[in-house]
Amino acid sequence: MAVIRSWHQHARCAQEFVLATDPSSPVVFPPLLLRHLFEGLGEEQKAKLLEQAAELDGQLPGGLEGYVTNARKLLKDSKEGVNPYEGFAPSVPQGEHLKVGSEDFERMEKLGREALSQTGFVLVAGGLGERLGYKGIKVSLPLYDALESECFLKLYISHILYIQEKFGKGKKIPLAIMTSDDTHAMTEKLLQDNNYFGMDSSQLTIMKQNKVPAIKDSDGHFAIKDGKIETKPHGHGDVHTLMHQTGVAKSWKDSGVKYVVFFQDTNGIIFRSLPAVLGVSVSNKFAVNSVCVPRTPGEAVGGICRLEHKDGRAFTVNVEYNQLDPLLRSTEQFSNGDVADAKTGFSPFPGNINVLVIDMDSYHSTLSSSGGRVNEFVNPKYADASKQAFKSPTRLECMMQDFPLLLSTESKVGFTTLDRWICFSPVKNNIQDAAAKSEKGLPPESAGTAERDAMALNTRMLQMAGAKIPEVGQAGTYAGIKLDFSPMVVLLPSFGTSLSDIKDRISPGASIEITSRSALVVEGEVFFEGKLKLDGALELRAQPGSSIIVKNLEVTNSGWEIVEVKQDDPSATVTQAMRGYKVVKHETRSIVADSEKKVVDEA
Ligand code: UTP
Repeated sequence: MAVIRSWHQHARCAQEFVLATDPSSPVVFPPLLLRHLFEGLGEEQKAKLLEQAAELDGQLPGGLEGYVTNARKLLKDSKEGVNPYEGFAPSVPQGEHLKVGSEDFERMEKLGREALSQTGFVLVAGGLGERLGYKGIKVSLPLYDALESECFLKLYISHILYIQEKFGKGKKIPLAIMTSDDTHAMTEKLLQDNNYFGMDSSQLTIMKQNKVPAIKDSDGHFAIKDGKIETKPHGHGDVHTLMHQTGVAKSWKDSGVKYVVFFQDTNGIIFRSLPAVLGVSVSNKFAVNSVCVPRTPGEAVGGICRLEHKDGRAFTVNVEYNQLDPLLRSTEQFSNGDVADAKTGFSPFPGNINVLVIDMDSYHSTLSSSGGRVNEFVNPKYADASKQAFKSPTRLECMMQDFPLLLSTESKVGFTTLDRWICFSPVKNNIQDAAAKSEKGLPPESAGTAERDAMALNTRMLQMAGAKIPEVGQAGTYAGIKLDFSPMVVLLPSFGTSLSDIKDRISPGASIEITSRSALVVEGEVFFEGKLKLDGALELRAQPGSSIIVKNLEVTNSGWEIVEVKQDDPSATVTQAMRGYKVVKHETRSIVADSEKKVVDEA
């Protein structure tokens, strides 16, 4: 390390650099590493490159030297076709399977609610979203077409604020957001323009991840673009390095945080399941608990596997979907590869949705011993059979779900499998790719399916809380994706997060009847104590400091309608084109309480 510091501290101009790249110089390694980049460059360009190299060197936990050493090793392994799972036998690990609404589920929600005041949340939002192809940041997208201001970031913060108010025991619940050069400025602006969506800025930390050098061949040479070392994203595994480097993990631990929840940018429904998942972590004393769904074979989500080696090494960890099939095929027990289990119709390996609950004690001690550096991997696309050059530059990457690999073998790593409808419906794909996936029977993961699933979840929660509401609403095919909507129910986070929260809003004697063509938006302290009959569209909005008590209300109007939007329709907004439809509001009954307790009794 000392050598690295000295080479860039001393080589302030190109002349000194040339000296340092002299193989006979004692300060050899990094400059030699970079020497190929300087051929044909003038003094000034060399100095600029050197400056950039010094900056990258300071940013990488092991410096440029560590990065290149690991890159060369991984590239060599890749070239030689080394199997990273060689000698490991996979099996289905032990974990909890929770049925939403079951007694166990309720018990876990109760335990989880008690732990919420000791929880910190981490949103990884540094991804570019190439598959979606949206120009802005993904967290600025609205989950619901009819409610444009309800972007993902606002929804997440609103859930945290709700949790804080109901279960925070007077404490502020912290949120850390990981951004990248691609998302940082836009994320900060979105927060500032909206006054942090009501969150105190002192409870929010933004940590920016840096890009890493791109590599152009199997010898680990860096790629140059526009006179600079080309850089590329390093992956969401950086979140652990940053939680350590920025001191966030330590300060959260010191302030009493016992559980850290990691979640992704466009999974708008995830908070609904988190209290129950937290309960599973508490009751099982899991060091790491991965949220899982039943996995369709071939689907682009990894599988959680128990991997045991003859030499005694053993992990419970995610195996990426493209590695799962070859790993399984190499065994006797799973020789058919990534196929469905005959009984369930799903892969026997739970599908990892990349939401992790990590116990703070294990987290902090592991970060301290490892620096939070999760395993890196490389995935080059070779230009030809010689496996020397790549089609386009590659880079080392890392994934946050590989954290269990840093834990000691005794650590308890588990998972919680839940029905998909309560925890997973991200916006990953543009509408064309989503339609192609839908055609193949794979989850389309588009803006439209995410909205459809969020409304279906809200509908089911009302149903489970005692409302009479059908699950089927409008249905149609929108830009090639078949969408079977439920009634358009939006329960905003200020109305409640978990199933228990929603149940608490509806008195046992209440009678709620909602027809399939209806739309209902509920915000804030709204309580259903008597009769609600809805056939049309209704908004019940209780602003902070006010409440609405529904004792007797009957609403019939022409309501809202889902209408197809053609891709070439010039009047469609970007987010409507992304869905292939828009919500047309024909008529809405709106009841708003601004600062008072409003009793609605229209008998
Ligand atoms: P995705 O797999 O959705 O990747 O990331 P992506 O880069 O955002 O989108 P594509 O693959 O280009 O279409 C999963 C989560 O990890 C975050 C994303 O923001 C998302 O929440 N992420 C990804 C980071 O924070 N940093 C990264 O370097 C990559």
